[in-house]
Amino acid sequence: MPRDYPRPEGHGGAGRAALTGPDAAISIRPIVRLGHISDLHIGDRARYPRNGIAARDCDRHSVKLLKKILQALAEEAVDHLVVTGDVTLSGETSEFERAAELLSPWAEAGRLTVIPGNHDVWSYESAASWRFLRQLGADGRGMKKPVAVYPLAVDLSPEVTLVALDSARHGEAPLTTSGALGIDQLAATREVVRETTKQGRAVVLALHHHLVIPPERVPSDLRLARMPLADAYQVVRLLAEMPIAAVLHGHRHTSFRLDLPGPSGTTPVICSGSASRVADEPARRPRALVHEFDRSGLHGVAALVAAPA
Ligand SMILES: [Fe+2]
Ligand SMILES: [Fe+2]
Repeated sequence: MPRDYPRPEGHGGAGRAALTGPDAAISIRPIVRLGHISDLHIGDRARYPRNGIAARDCDRHSVKLLKKILQALAEEAVDHLVVTGDVTLSGETSEFERAAELLSPWAEAGRLTVIPGNHDVWSYESAASWRFLRQLGADGRGMKKPVAVYPLAVDLSPEVTLVALDSARHGEAPLTTSGALGIDQLAATREVVRETTKQGRAVVLALHHHLVIPPERVPSDLRLARMPLADAYQVVRLLAEMPIAAVLHGHRHTSFRLDLPGPSGTTPVICSGSASRVADEPARRPRALVHEFDRSGLHGVAALVAAPA
C-alpha cells in the first residue's frame, strides 16, 4: 500500500494562486499557450560523489542545451510555463540556486509553476530542510516558511486552470521508490476539479510521475526501472469520471502521448521528456512542449526540440 509522506505544517487542502505578473489582468485571450518542460536535472559537478551519484552522472544532462530550450520558449512568449519536476540531480542547494536563476524571467513575471520530482526531495538534507519549497516553491520565488501547497490551482485565464500536484516521495530513494499522490491530495484534487469545472473552466493536471508507459519503448530506456505512480489507478479513475483537458507529466526522459478514457471522449496524457538530456534517440532529445488550451480543451501541441549537440 502506498505510504503517505510527511508534509510541511499548514497542509490544509487545495491551494489557489492567480497570476501576479504585470500582464495578468489581460490574460483574457480565448487560447492559452502553456509551455511545458521537465527533468532539467541540473547537477553541480563539484558536489559529487554524493548521494550515490558520481560526478560523471552530471554529464547526461547539459545546462547548455537547457539554455537553448529556455531561449526558444522565451521567443515563443508563452502565457505560462509549467516545470513538471526533477529540476535538480539530487536536491543540492547550489542546484536549486542555478534552477531559480535560469527560471527567474518566468518567476519574476508571475508566469511560472514548478512541481517537485523524485530527484528534488529524496536526500535527507533536501527533504528535512524543505529545500525545494524554500528555494523554488511552486512559483519559482521560494517560500520563507514552507507550507504544503499542492494541489495548487493556478488560473491561467478566465477559462483555463492548471492544477499542480506533488507526486514525489520525500526522503525516499528515487531509483527504487514509486511516486504517490496520497489519499488526502487525491481527495483535495477531486474537490478542486469539481469546483473548477462547475465554473465552466477547463482543468489541466500536472504532476511528475507517469500514469502509464506506452507499449513502444525507446531502446535506451528499456533497461531502466519504471518507477510508476503507485496510486496511478486513482488518477485514471478520476480521468474517467471528470472532464480533464489534459494531464502533463515528466519523469520518463522520453516524449510520448497516450489517450485515456474520459467521461466524453478521451483525455490526452502527455510526457514532455527531458529539457536537458544529452541526446541519443530523437524521442529523447531535449525539448519543450507548447500546449494550446481554451475552455473546450486541448487544441494543439508544438515541440521545440534542441538540435543534437
Ligand atoms: Fe528525471
Ligand atoms: Fe523522475
